[in-house]
Amino acid sequence: MCGIVGVVGNPNATDILLQGLEKLEYRGYDSAGIYVSNGAESGRLVKANGRIADLEAKVSGQLAGFAGIGHTRWATHGKPSELNAHPHQSESGRLVMVHNGVIENYAEIRATYLENHHFQGQTDTEIAVHLVGHFVEAESLSVLEAFKKALNIIEGSYAFALMDTENPEVLYVAKNKSPLLIGLGDGYNLVGSDAMAMIRETSDFKEIHDKELVIVEKDQVTIMDYAGNTVERDSYTAELDLSDIGKGTYPYYMLKEIDEQPTVMRKLISTYADADGQMQVDPAIVQAVQEADRLYIIAAGTSYNAGFASKKMLEELTERPVELGIASEWGYEMPLLSQKPLFIFLTQSGETADSRQVLVKANEMGIPSLTVTNVPGSTLSREATYTLLLHAGPEIAVASTKAYTAQIAALAFLAKAVGEANGNAKAEAFDLVHELSLVAQSIEASLSEKDLVDSKVRKLLGTTRNAFYIGRGQDYYVAMEASLKLKEISYIQCEGFAAGELKHGTISLIEDGVPVIALLSANEKVAAHTRGNIAEVQARGAHVLTIVEEGVAHEDDDIVVNQVHPYLSSIAMVIPTQLIAYFATLHRGLDVDKPRNLAKSVTVE
Ligand code: F6R
Repeated sequence: MCGIVGVVGNPNATDILLQGLEKLEYRGYDSAGIYVSNGAESGRLVKANGRIADLEAKVSGQLAGFAGIGHTRWATHGKPSELNAHPHQSESGRLVMVHNGVIENYAEIRATYLENHHFQGQTDTEIAVHLVGHFVEAESLSVLEAFKKALNIIEGSYAFALMDTENPEVLYVAKNKSPLLIGLGDGYNLVGSDAMAMIRETSDFKEIHDKELVIVEKDQVTIMDYAGNTVERDSYTAELDLSDIGKGTYPYYMLKEIDEQPTVMRKLISTYADADGQMQVDPAIVQAVQEADRLYIIAAGTSYNAGFASKKMLEELTERPVELGIASEWGYEMPLLSQKPLFIFLTQSGETADSRQVLVKANEMGIPSLTVTNVPGSTLSREATYTLLLHAGPEIAVASTKAYTAQIAALAFLAKAVGEANGNAKAEAFDLVHELSLVAQSIEASLSEKDLVDSKVRKLLGTTRNAFYIGRGQDYYVAMEASLKLKEISYIQCEGFAAGELKHGTISLIEDGVPVIALLSANEKVAAHTRGNIAEVQARGAHVLTIVEEGVAHEDDDIVVNQVHPYLSSIAMVIPTQLIAYFATLHRGLDVDKPRNLAKSVTVE
């Protein structure tokens, strides 16, 4: 989704902005722009529809300055176009602004304050910068006072970075609900919607809270609330590793990230267990789970699917019921909660606005919370009571793969640690370190079968417009994730279905040639029932591909997966489905890493 980067006090401002925007590309965007200045009224604005490479071509090394702001736009108000790309300018052109988020009362602002103003495009951002400009020009306020006044009027979610072309020594920034961070450089300072945008320059950051305004100068950062009271805040160091961000020799990040999964499993073992196999999970988190009478997992998309895949394991080992919540639904309405709830936010990015709105409510209600995330220092990590990190390394491809498997594995460590602390016999018998090593080996074995998957996919999904994944129990949860992965990048319409539920309506969609991919993990009874469902769809003409754990495999099964512990079978079973999505997309000539309309970090509700 939209990204912001800004810098003040560095003569390489243009490069810093362009490189920062490149680092934000993975979030998804449709146009980009930068404003760079070398002194009062010497600034230039360059925008391009399309990719950062198009913007770079337009800049072509001819833009020098010590300060600037840049933006990648993911369209909300107004179609993707150069006119709608940020930065936007005030009526006179004096102020320049970039914005992430959605301004809810933009129509009202326009009608009340900006009747005679002229707008270039259709964005809500243009309204915001015109409003600040209006207060500077019509009421002769300083830029700071005008910005403060506008912030007290604007409603909605936003991260703003504002520059005054007459005084480019200062960046004015503010946020509400949308992420924004200050980066502290050596003799210069930065601002970014994601630490990734600044990580080449610094690893020291200062967070900004909602409804705070920050004045960023080359040697000073002043944080204040909207009433103008200054706020003191310490900086922190983010543990991001720039070397992880490259694609290496891989054609796509998604393939690299799929291949990294055995390493991620081993990294989790070395992080959350000691050399003797003893759990090394923060005792405060273990205690928080022990004190809860029910665990609520709140998440979106793939993370929501990972929550389902972990539910049974968590319930059996912690002996607490686990309830799943779609974050965008719970933001509006919470169900009746138990007496002592613990909210667990599963979120790869730690920035998902839907999840965050539930966390804000949970904090207001005094409910303890745990964020399980891949991004240290992310908003949901900072604002939750506890954080459990995934240690999967940056995930750049829009389609999440290694974060899904890392979420299940990280929750396994938590579940076992709690179970052991409670004296739960199943937890004590579950040799997680050994079992997860077997999972890493199973993943490696599946990854060595890429050619097989490639050829099966070519045959099964080459021209189809729709497909089904079916499974029962744990396999149903994998089917949900597998179908999401396939549809989001290959655009094949795909449903993940509980195999036994097909006959209650959906089987009417099965006709000659419809692809059905059946998942059968090594539970004999369940697998036998799924085999029955396979026969039903085959009888109606479906083309079936089977992905089967070896304990229940038949000779004519298509893809056989090395068997792992039932608590971890979703990790092993999902790997071929990730490859299926990858190859189906590749065969269609589509961009695997950047599917249309999607963003990596979904920072609007
Ligand atoms: C799909 C995908 C999304 C995310 C969802 C939540 O491949 O990545 O469905 O899982 O947008 O994002 P996080 O986990 O960052 O909260």
